[in-house]
Amino acid sequence: MSTETAQIQTYLAEQAALIEKELAGSLPSDWKVPAPLREAMMYSLLAGGKRLRPVMVLEAAKALGGDEKAALPVALAVEMIHTYSLIHDDLPAMDNDDYRRGKLTNHKVYGEAMAILAGDALLTHAFYSIVQAYRTHGVSAESVADIVEELSRLAGAHGMVGGQAADMEGEQGVTSLEQLEYIHYHKTSDLIVFSLKAGGRIASASKEQLAALERFGSNLGLAFQIQDDILDLVGDEQKLGKPVQSDVKQQKVTYPFFIGIEASQAKVEELTRQAKQAIIEASFPHPERLLQIADFLMRRDH
Ligand code: IPE
Ligand code: IPE
Ligand code: MG
Ligand code: MG
Ligand code: MG
Repeated sequence: MSTETAQIQTYLAEQAALIEKELAGSLPSDWKVPAPLREAMMYSLLAGGKRLRPVMVLEAAKALGGDEKAALPVALAVEMIHTYSLIHDDLPAMDNDDYRRGKLTNHKVYGEAMAILAGDALLTHAFYSIVQAYRTHGVSAESVADIVEELSRLAGAHGMVGGQAADMEGEQGVTSLEQLEYIHYHKTSDLIVFSLKAGGRIASASKEQLAALERFGSNLGLAFQIQDDILDLVGDEQKLGKPVQSDVKQQKVTYPFFIGIEASQAKVEELTRQAKQAIIEASFPHPERLLQIADFLMRRDH
């Protein structure tokens, strides 16, 4: 492993630990919540995971000289949305998987009803968390409105949920790379784009800088999902913390299925190059971390 890879890996682990600590206190302790619901929410929220999306919120803010603290409530929010999407994605009616983040899936521990409700509650709580950026960190109400509007679009029917719906509809029936790209852009890129732009907004990014973050995120998101599909075939279950061959079991049409593993890997590399180019061309004051993260993700094994 190169020194740079080791450094960024350590850095990301530190950031993930910071985020995990904040997530642990994110559901007010004085709220009267049925115990199994609180437990089911926290079980998945604190189960580990790379915390990539919240890291991207924080790093986009920092790349533009913004305040990491002010970005934190939005970082937590995107991880809540992501975690809910995974709880639902694993349900028997969807991918029917038994392991996630190295632990039994939510429905395997709490039952399907509580898993569905834990997902619902995490989704709702994300919006509460975003508002705290205004209440406690002085982010302007206008920026918060922009962020909430964008999250509603990119996590909802036109975004992640739309992508998941197309993924479900498309099982076996996807016949073109364009269709598959649509699914990947929505189910995966959209939340990554949201994360980067929200961080940018907190740092008062210009229109051009937001456009660069969008290009970075959509290319990186597509690369990320192709890599996820490659790892589903050739990854190590222990490292991934989730079952391999899940896509095969579900007869999912994926990039490796269409063009093979080698061409898929080449596509991941090309998309990563294009992603980095967007940031380089936009001349951010502190672009290094975002560029390192892009390179790191290309070589990830989990
Ligand atoms: C898994 O996301 C779902 C996809 C969109 C591919 P991650 O690979 O970021 O999962 P965690 O958060 O690290 O568990
Ligand atoms: C899921 O894609 C994407 C979302 C949860 C939005 P996958 O179904 O490939 O994710 P994994 O492989 O179960 O993590
Ligand atoms: Mg799925
Ligand atoms: Mg899945
Ligand atoms: Mg997958």
